[in-house]
Amino acid sequence: MKEINPSTPPADLAGAYTAFLAAYPTFQTTAVLDELRRAEYGRLDAQDHVYLDYTGGGLYADSQIDQHAALLRHNVFGNPHSHNPTSLAMTELVERARAYVLEYFNTTAEEYVVIFTANASGALKLVGESYPFASGGRFLLAADDHNSVNGIREYARARGAAVQYAPLTTPELRLDQSALARLLAQADPRRHNLFAFPAQSNYSGVKHPLELIAQARAQGWDVLLDCAAFAPTNRLDLERWRPDFASFSFYKIFGYPTGVGALLARRATLAKLQRPWFAGGTVKIVSTKAQRHFLAEGEAAFEDGTVNYLMLPAVEIGLRHIERIGIGTIAERVRCLTGWLLDQLTELRHSNGRAMAQIHGPASLEMRGGTLTLSFFDPHGAPISGQIVEQLAAAARISLRTGCFCNPGAGETSFHLPTALMTHLFDHADGMQFADLVQLVYEERGVDVSAVRVSVGLVTNFADVYRFIQFANGFRDRPTADFSAEVLTHRANSRDAA
Ligand SMILES: Cc1ncc(COP(=O)(O)O)c(C=O)c1O
Repeated sequence: MKEINPSTPPADLAGAYTAFLAAYPTFQTTAVLDELRRAEYGRLDAQDHVYLDYTGGGLYADSQIDQHAALLRHNVFGNPHSHNPTSLAMTELVERARAYVLEYFNTTAEEYVVIFTANASGALKLVGESYPFASGGRFLLAADDHNSVNGIREYARARGAAVQYAPLTTPELRLDQSALARLLAQADPRRHNLFAFPAQSNYSGVKHPLELIAQARAQGWDVLLDCAAFAPTNRLDLERWRPDFASFSFYKIFGYPTGVGALLARRATLAKLQRPWFAGGTVKIVSTKAQRHFLAEGEAAFEDGTVNYLMLPAVEIGLRHIERIGIGTIAERVRCLTGWLLDQLTELRHSNGRAMAQIHGPASLEMRGGTLTLSFFDPHGAPISGQIVEQLAAAARISLRTGCFCNPGAGETSFHLPTALMTHLFDHADGMQFADLVQLVYEERGVDVSAVRVSVGLVTNFADVYRFIQFANGFRDRPTADFSAEVLTHRANSRDAA
């Protein structure tokens, strides 16, 4: 039998695809997505793009745009806040979108309220500014939270609640279950306690156990589940999991429209939120003389001003698009492609035997999604900077991300950055930016904390991930100094072209 060197993937796409199908036969059950890509996402291949940033933003189908444009072209819509015919026509579609969001996430208007926001951050901010944090209460975060969740700690701290982080384990970047159990046990159930964690990490792709929701609630916590990175490849079943709050950005699920997210809130818990202000649309009545107001009920109390109403029908169009494909089909495709990427990346070796890449997070498919963060190393073990990888990828028309992806806790844990170092840097590098941090940490510890993130999604195909692995192969046996020169040449060429 011919021996295959696992560190050298088959040099031809067809051969690699055959081997991939042998390892991941269920990929064939997702063939409908190849057809869909040809029919509805043709611009990807026409423009030779390898799109690997689904955690940054999803992609939309031509038909979503067509349906939405037709709706706008053939109707007259007014601001939904009044009772004239054009307003009522819009109100009907806004309420239809709201009802469909509830149906999609398997719940009812009796149980949950859908509050439309600008994005997931807007949904998270609503909870942060309105949650009754107070002395004696607690705000518990996961070290894997996105900055839009981390930011809530400023509200909690300002109102005297204790702020704590549940740590992650290395190298898998999963929640440390025993540390978490100790932290959860500290809540005084007579106070207001909020626990916020992501259903899926936007850094490592880890899926955190949704069983934590019931566990935390039983110990006196309200639970905020950030679903922004989870929802594009999983459907949150609200009836089953019942978080108090769940945050979403719709463009991450189906690409279009941007500018719309949602907070889904359990009615029972929503009642304890206290809005710090009111605005047009959020009140029943206001008096300037008496300086009094009565807040509206339900979602109306939380949607400040006019919602992004013309875009809301596009939310229903997008969710129906996902429904037609089937989230299970999307998840299966993502699982197969992620598995192959992990297989290949963990096997990549320089000729001297050194690993070329290190995965930050699980190297297996166990409880993880299609977001993969990694670092590349040269044959001497020196890190290849994220900036170099990003620029070379751009030259190969590969869209990926580098940095810390607004998730500092996962990065700090994976790169083993101690609290003392981070405190020292924040004390002494006033106004520092991420690039300064990368430089200072490199000088201090010789690690490059700017990681590379690739994420697969709805219409990723095998050719996309194959091209990324070919690209990664380009780092074999090349010292970092080589790349600096190459990046400079690319930069000069693109300046000339401009
Ligand atoms: C896990 C997670 N939470 C929250 C957000 C914030 O989403 P948005 O920027 O759409 O508000 C993101 C964005 O990447 C995310 O990945």
